[in-house]
Amino acid sequence: MSALDFTQTSTARRVGDAERARILAAPGFGQHYTDFMAHARWTVESGWGGGEVLPFGPLQLSPAAAVLHYGQEIFEGLKAFRHADGSVWTFRPEANGERLQRSARRLALPELPVPDFLASLRALVAADEPWVPEATSEESLYLRPFMFASEEFLGVRASHTVDYYVIASPAGPYFPRGVQPLVVWITDEYARAGAGGTGAAKCGGNYASSLLGKNEAAENGADEVLFLDSETHTSIDELSGMNVFAITRDGRLLTPALTGSILEGVTRLSILQLARDRGLEVSEQRLVMSEVLEQLGSGEITEMFACGTAAVINPIGEFRARGGSWTVGDAGSGETTLALRKELTDIQYGRIPDRHGWMTRLV
Ligand code: COI
Repeated sequence: MSALDFTQTSTARRVGDAERARILAAPGFGQHYTDFMAHARWTVESGWGGGEVLPFGPLQLSPAAAVLHYGQEIFEGLKAFRHADGSVWTFRPEANGERLQRSARRLALPELPVPDFLASLRALVAADEPWVPEATSEESLYLRPFMFASEEFLGVRASHTVDYYVIASPAGPYFPRGVQPLVVWITDEYARAGAGGTGAAKCGGNYASSLLGKNEAAENGADEVLFLDSETHTSIDELSGMNVFAITRDGRLLTPALTGSILEGVTRLSILQLARDRGLEVSEQRLVMSEVLEQLGSGEITEMFACGTAAVINPIGEFRARGGSWTVGDAGSGETTLALRKELTDIQYGRIPDRHGWMTRLV
């Protein structure tokens, strides 16, 4: 049972019907926002309270709010999908709610009970229902729950006031080029997270630390950056916001094991299950970059892809590094990669049965 009811405080729409239709025709990723946002506040004295759905708009924050100085912030990413009968669903939201709790523990933030997390998604999507793209598209409404230290205090300790919001943004493909094979730059300079650090938490700081690597990737004509482990710089961690997979000629699906420095992706977990279902041998292991590059050369690894809620499943066509470049397969989109992508999105859009019970109806 949810203790917070996320009452809607206004029904006035911010964006008119014609403008919303124009946005939904080509939403891109992360460029447009809906009419409402959900909010709750936690205080050390009273715990969680004040669940509401209010008009989307700027936040009022003290310049001394702790998050602006020490980065005590976490977030999540999910999507709402329209099915052919008009209903609206989301994918494995309990997994995101539980991960938000794990991230909160690591960042010394309060844990939002999972029923309250689900209630916030339901309330926001109910209010913003016209923003969920039509079932005929491969588009969705991206949901971004986040939580941050809002106490006006400059001492270094866990904040006594924390604000939780959910905002929503209509989303097409994450990459501007669409679902096309990515060029991935392997950085030998930067790491995303170190042992004992926050790598497994979904906190803003991990993404901030990836940005210089992303710039380096762009300077080298690549779409994404791949981070290696911070200690030895030899094994694959993840991209700037996506987990990584490889598929071998003999039908194995390989992905880096969860070492504490990479994100426990919900899409990653689901792909492991879908791959097992289709008879692939699945292995979560240490993936040594030099060995992967060798196996790309010998043809032993035939496909690689990136995955995440925003990116779904995106083929990798090429790796680049200071020492050279390596083509993945024929540099195109691998057959198994596309089959996994199709199966995952078919489940999400209700086009095939949800045999694992992953979907939750929101509206
Ligand atoms: C997501 O996939 O939902 C994320 O939060 C990652 C970010 C790169 C958009």
